[in-house]
Amino acid sequence: MGRLIIISNRLPFSIDHEGDQLSLRQSSGGLVSAIKSYIESESSKNRAFTDKLWVGVADFPQNEWSVVSEQLTSVDFQINPLFLNKILYKDYYNGFSNSVLWPLFHYFPSLVDYQAHYYDAYVKVNRAFADKLIPLIQPDDTIWIHDYQLMLLPEMIRAEKPEATIGFFLHIPFPSYELFRTLPAEWKTGLLRGILGSDLVGFHTHDYAQHFLQSVKMILGVDSYFHTIQYQDRMIKADLFPISIDYKKFNKACDDPETKQYYNEIKNNFEGKKIIFSVDRLDYTKGLMDRLSAFDYFLDQYPDWREKVVFILNIVPSRDDIQAYTERKQQIEQKIGTINGKVSTITWQPIIYRYTHLPFNELAALYKAADVALITPLRDGMNLVAKEYVASCSARKGVLILSELAGAANELNEALLVNPTDVIEVSNAINRALTMPVDEQQQRMILMQQRLSDYDVIKWVSDFLDQLSNVKQEQQKQQVKHLDDRTSSQIHLHYQIAKTRCLLLDYDGTLVPYAKQPKDARPNEDLRTLLTDLSNDPRNLVVIISGREAETLENWLGDLPLMLVAEHGASFKPKGEQWQQTVSIPDQWKNEIRPIMQLFVTHCVGSFIEEKTNTLAWHYRNTHPDLGFTRSRELINNLTQLLQNTMLQVVDGNKVVEVRMSGFDKGIMALKIVNDLQPDFVLCMGDDTTDEDMFKALGERAYSIKVSNGPTAAQYTVFSQQKVLQLLKRLMLPIVNKQYAGT
Ligand code: UDP
Ligand code: G6P
Repeated sequence: MGRLIIISNRLPFSIDHEGDQLSLRQSSGGLVSAIKSYIESESSKNRAFTDKLWVGVADFPQNEWSVVSEQLTSVDFQINPLFLNKILYKDYYNGFSNSVLWPLFHYFPSLVDYQAHYYDAYVKVNRAFADKLIPLIQPDDTIWIHDYQLMLLPEMIRAEKPEATIGFFLHIPFPSYELFRTLPAEWKTGLLRGILGSDLVGFHTHDYAQHFLQSVKMILGVDSYFHTIQYQDRMIKADLFPISIDYKKFNKACDDPETKQYYNEIKNNFEGKKIIFSVDRLDYTKGLMDRLSAFDYFLDQYPDWREKVVFILNIVPSRDDIQAYTERKQQIEQKIGTINGKVSTITWQPIIYRYTHLPFNELAALYKAADVALITPLRDGMNLVAKEYVASCSARKGVLILSELAGAANELNEALLVNPTDVIEVSNAINRALTMPVDEQQQRMILMQQRLSDYDVIKWVSDFLDQLSNVKQEQQKQQVKHLDDRTSSQIHLHYQIAKTRCLLLDYDGTLVPYAKQPKDARPNEDLRTLLTDLSNDPRNLVVIISGREAETLENWLGDLPLMLVAEHGASFKPKGEQWQQTVSIPDQWKNEIRPIMQLFVTHCVGSFIEEKTNTLAWHYRNTHPDLGFTRSRELINNLTQLLQNTMLQVVDGNKVVEVRMSGFDKGIMALKIVNDLQPDFVLCMGDDTTDEDMFKALGERAYSIKVSNGPTAAQYTVFSQQKVLQLLKRLMLPIVNKQYAGT
């Protein structure tokens, strides 16, 4: 097993200054404690990484690093800091990361500061990470990239290291498509493509994963199937992994004498009073102003609680160079002053406010001492404080009031869930929490604690890493079908030695890319030359076997020495001969089907009907992807019921639903051609569901290749339609002997 490389904006420690002395201090963030707990756990022993490396931005000067790096022996990771120009860092961190992505992804679009140079800096810093990492990466390494500051990095690494194992985890919400789409086109496509450089993309909740998949579909036009995406030549998984906490560390925190001492002090200090506690970074997403309004309202609504309750509000300094944060601090402090001024007495002050970082012992003591935790963010990716509070209530007493807009609400539904902006609801919840019978508190706590201890942070890390290695294994299975150079060489060799050959080629999506309108997908001169060159070899029969109608094929390719098959085999034109009908079909049935399809055109903007000689086709390539797909299922459902016991059949094609007579398909036609000709070499290529009939009918008789990475009856797959043309060109090249040594 190779190394584990963790990449995040912040390093897992900071440098403390005491006089002239510098020392390392482990950061208290969720990610650091997750990774650290995992490494110390038994689970990590099953996955013995040879080494662990952490790459992040240095928030200290290089000379300080030279001094403290010697202390690193006590740290679990090799640390590789990235030193950046201050102005560049500011535009990337304060700018794009925290004044564009953070507010937008937390549903504060009005706070987004759209500045082009912020994005430029974001690209440059992601590039600087890539430049640092690429020379370090070895084939067996597991690369795990964290959070919104580094969304472009997976793609940058993938471009240089196509085989790398890359996981990406987003620690904040992924917003709904309606919000994400408001970003400028270059930014939103860049961000999505960036993330899709990974093999596994993790989110906290089902909703965030769905929002991401929806944005990928709407913006990049890439579909997903359950949680998997086929993007370029890779299968990528996007799934949910709700981050957790080190449950035992919080649950047992009060066994530590220093924590116990803090706890006793708090309890003594507020003897006879109920304690409400909250701790948050200073951030507008945390809903502090609404929380204070609700507490103010509570004191008015329930005056009996005055002098019997204290609200300990700890705010942790954060991002204080950004105006939206500093403004908020002033407002909050003003509001606290107003509430305290309004109701305090000489012996009682309702809000105990501190603006500071808390050491772990004190934080754990406050959690344990609190009768109620009041955690009401307006949006939060997860919210670890809520989980830490639940874990810390070792006596199973205490009530959690939690915003329904925090990701944690999905797992902690025994909390009193509230809308954070509804002051009346929050106020009533505070009263309910303060008066909740102990046995109810315990029942709720037991269920939440069970869930958190079952899926703790160690499980979170191992679950993500397990899934990442599963995705790599699944990709390898898929690769088995992927047409590699060795197989192309074999096909080339077989082609060259064969005396008679048959090439069965689908048209749209195989020889030409899809166009918005079917009439726009004309063959260019290069393609016509290629087909002519192939057909001019007397050993070859080249067959274009298409769903197109005869008239179009005749107009575009009728002058070339090819065999043409139209409408999946309804009619055909042998090389140098006239068109023939496979079956003679009266077409009154179209009058029944046309109005139904017309109704679907009306109900699905962008869809249209193509009327061919023997087929009616409803195309939905140019519609809203979700609506088009839903309508296509409805149409298939309607038509299938209507056409039961008739000679007509419904064909579910690539963004098209077709109705045609049964009794012929591409498979029947392909097999007939091959049986008549008995060639030494057969190559069959296509991209659509209707081509599956050919792949199945020909079986081992042909080399069959599908332009797709999805499940197929074909023997091989290629990702792009361009690869088809490359292979056809290659077949005509003379064999260079050495090229096939060993095949
Ligand atoms: N925390 C901290 N310093 C403090 C108080 C709290 O590092 O002074 C920790 C807290 O224990 C929790 C994290 O900060 O693990 C906050 O995570 P959360 O998900 O609640 O919010 P975020 O800050 O990530 O938005
Ligand atoms: C959130 C983000 C993290 C970030 C943390 C603290 O939890 O998801 O990526 O590190 O807040 O913010 P800061 O800007 O101080 O790193």
